[in-house]
Amino acid sequence: MPRKLFVTTALPYANGPFHIGHIMEYTQADIWVRFQRLQGHKVNFVCADDTHGAPIMLKAEAEGVTPEELIARVAESHRKDLARFGVSFDHFHSTHSPENRELAGEIFAALKAEGFIATKTIEQFFDPVKGMFLPDRYIKGECPKCGAKDQYGDSCESCGAVYTPTDLKNPFSALTGATPVMRKSEHFFFRLSDPRCVEFLKSWTQDGRLQPEVANKVREWLDGGLNDWDITRDAPYFGIEIPGAKGKYFYVWLDAPIGYLASLKAHLEKKGQDFAKYIADPKVEQVHFIGKDIIYFHTLFWPAMLKFSGRKVPDFVYVHGFLTLTGEKLSKSRGITVSPQKYADLGLNPEWLRYYLAAKLNARVEDLDFNPDDFLARVNSDLVGKYVNIASRAAGFISKRFGGRLSDEPLSAGRELKHKLRGNVAAPVPDDEEQVPAILFEVRSFADQIAADYDAREFGKAIRQVMFLADRVNQYVDEQKPWEIAKEPGQEAALQWFCTLYLELFRILTI
Ligand code: MSP
Ligand code: ZN
Repeated sequence: MPRKLFVTTALPYANGPFHIGHIMEYTQADIWVRFQRLQGHKVNFVCADDTHGAPIMLKAEAEGVTPEELIARVAESHRKDLARFGVSFDHFHSTHSPENRELAGEIFAALKAEGFIATKTIEQFFDPVKGMFLPDRYIKGECPKCGAKDQYGDSCESCGAVYTPTDLKNPFSALTGATPVMRKSEHFFFRLSDPRCVEFLKSWTQDGRLQPEVANKVREWLDGGLNDWDITRDAPYFGIEIPGAKGKYFYVWLDAPIGYLASLKAHLEKKGQDFAKYIADPKVEQVHFIGKDIIYFHTLFWPAMLKFSGRKVPDFVYVHGFLTLTGEKLSKSRGITVSPQKYADLGLNPEWLRYYLAAKLNARVEDLDFNPDDFLARVNSDLVGKYVNIASRAAGFISKRFGGRLSDEPLSAGRELKHKLRGNVAAPVPDDEEQVPAILFEVRSFADQIAADYDAREFGKAIRQVMFLADRVNQYVDEQKPWEIAKEPGQEAALQWFCTLYLELFRILTI
């Protein structure tokens, strides 16, 4: 039975072009999706720009454009890069869309009806210089859990703790440097502390669907107790206004994952399919690829939002580590980066980068290092020296000597043996067409293991096996010495046959 898969990657913020980390995540998901499609499974693979929130609003303001203009420009750049890097999303949507507004409203209303929304008047940091409530990311200070300095107001990059900005020690406004003052405002909270919610999350996160290291991390959070989640932001804000609450907006992290559904909805409706029916189908598997920095949102908030609004919950959340450059975290703000745009503009082949990333990826939450020298060496030695080499050794003869035609003879072990003996035996060699040359048998026999590795996101392992086989094939070609067969009179058919075999082996390795 073909699987029905609904696959997403994290929605990139619409505040700038992709960096190499995005390309890594999208490549990882894209390889997995392409594999599933090759297996005959039915996949809807979607993404969208994450367009809301204060940073985008403030960035647009700084550039003197509207947020809509900014996100339109970024969307264009994102689409261009997705095409250039061969990411096969079926649809790339936007959280600033009618579908998302509608779904966010529905989910909020359903949560409210079930008693999961609390209203509380809170005191919040207000920047008296800028005249606005300070978004989490614009308040900095020391982490309340580990004491790390210069941390943002929502979570700690050092220990991973998630908290509210008022928990920070020695806070200051990142916009103006001013010491923020406290102001009151009425906010909606998602009641994560509701016993129904805690019970659900304990089972959903610990039933084996998550990677072990992710499940452990989440259990620590659960054991520490969950706080209700503030899902409101006050105007001025670029986002979705909360129905019935003027001047109040959904916090961007509320509407962002709903963007997965909005994108799927837009995609299915474009194809004339019924979104509600598809997403209610228990056979549909919902799979999210994300980076390790957004586990909290995807393993606690998101499944709980879905569950208690009466919707399908995610089946799998596949978490990857970060791509680092010579051991440092890639970061635009710190100016450490490998630009995918520059890479593509230079005309470097995107497949080289995809290959390199695949060769380094596994199913664990490990960081991986982008090393330019290693990249060069792997492309040259693996892709060119081993893999393409097989084709280039065979294709020249096939095109120059045989007009581009492959041999019609079966790829049998008997044919191989007959050539080896070159008639130097009394009895004719039996040519059992079913029995294939040992090299072909060997290469084919790896298929199931390699497929299992792709399925399990062990791409590095799969690639290592493919390269092992490429070595074996090259050894085989070295033994046959086609360049010598080419000089032997009367061996034209054998030369054509061997080159055909090499190309068949190349074809299998390509798959
Ligand atoms: N907008 C949120 C996600 C919302 S999902 C409903 C976001 N955006 S992001 O642009 O910052 O990151 C998008 C994805 O890229 C995330 O999964 C993130 O982990 C991943 N990466 C960001 N930097 C990365 C690396 N250096 N390496 C690998 N992945 C990285 O988070
Ligand atoms: Zn910390």
